Amino acid sequence: MTFFKDNPVCNLFKIDFPVISGGMVWASGARLAAAVSNAGGLGLIGAGSMKPELLEEHIDKAFKATKHPFGVNIPLMIGHSKDHIDICIEKKVQVVFTAAGNPALYTQKLKDAGITVAHVVPNAKLALKAQNSGCDAVVAEGTEAGGHNGKDGLTSLVLWPSVADKVKIPLIAAGGIGTGRAMAAAFALGASGVQIGTRFAVSTESTAHQNYKDACVKADGGSVRIFNTAHMPIRALLNPYVNEYIKKECAGESIESLLSFRGKGRTKTGIFEGDIEDGEMDAGQVCELINEVLPVKEIMNRLIEQFFVAKNL
Ligand SMILES: Cc1cc2nc3c(=O)[nH]c(=O)nc-3n(C[C@H](O)[C@H](O)[C@H](O)COP(=O)(O)O)c2cc1C
Repeated sequence: MTFFKDNPVCNLFKIDFPVISGGMVWASGARLAAAVSNAGGLGLIGAGSMKPELLEEHIDKAFKATKHPFGVNIPLMIGHSKDHIDICIEKKVQVVFTAAGNPALYTQKLKDAGITVAHVVPNAKLALKAQNSGCDAVVAEGTEAGGHNGKDGLTSLVLWPSVADKVKIPLIAAGGIGTGRAMAAAFALGASGVQIGTRFAVSTESTAHQNYKDACVKADGGSVRIFNTAHMPIRALLNPYVNEYIKKECAGESIESLLSFRGKGRTKTGIFEGDIEDGEMDAGQVCELINEVLPVKEIMNRLIEQFFVAKNL
């Protein structure tokens, strides 16, 4: 633990280990966030799939379930984001991670309320924008990541050092991390913390359906693909729905027609309700390395143990 004594991410968020569970639609409620915070990391509640009242409930539950800091992830492109920001301020949430939008939009407002802010980016240009908007940290997410991806398609190996060289605020690496070895690699490339999604989605405490967790365990990295590339790339498990979507994309169907085929509620159907044929199961390439569903505490223990071995400590 003394290794992380001077770690900028630990100091910023007042946590023992520089490990953050990413906000994940339909998977990261209060239970997962509190479990990660209780294990020494920073758990995030994913507001993306929540109506404002539900987010309030989850924040109240998380305050009851942990004495440690936790945060809320707010994707800015969704309809409720302004309400979500106001709720975080009202409820005195300590940390907010914004994503998928302009970091200049709410950072100052959140900072004025005493909230620590990080923003998720897919390239170095946006990382600089996050820094210039007053963010306290930046999450650089490589294309290996599950869920919505940037259009750049930069791999973590290229993205992390590029961002590390350009910004002064702490870099949190995301995309493809599920082991302590990958965490050590992220540190070697300039990160001082990691944000992990898929590995925590496949934990006991995640609210993802058991069918989703089993599908991730069964999948290898090659069966987790990017689709919806022209509109907003998404990385998800291949299934009949995603296969059909890709077929339509390759046939040159218009964005309107593709979006109408996707319809509404596909992530709920796939991740939360466990429809592995017709639902969308956002997940990262790291499925290649995930062989079982584990409790958060065990995931954290293994990560930190492997990290120290990899660093020869
Ligand atoms: C099921 C799922 C849902 C996600 N939903 C969100 C979200 O609502 N907001 C967000 O900023 N990122 C979201 N992400 C991305 C994660 O927060 C995280 O950055 C990413 O999963 C890291 O890459 P990894 O999956 O390789 O660990 C999601 C990822 C997954 C797997």
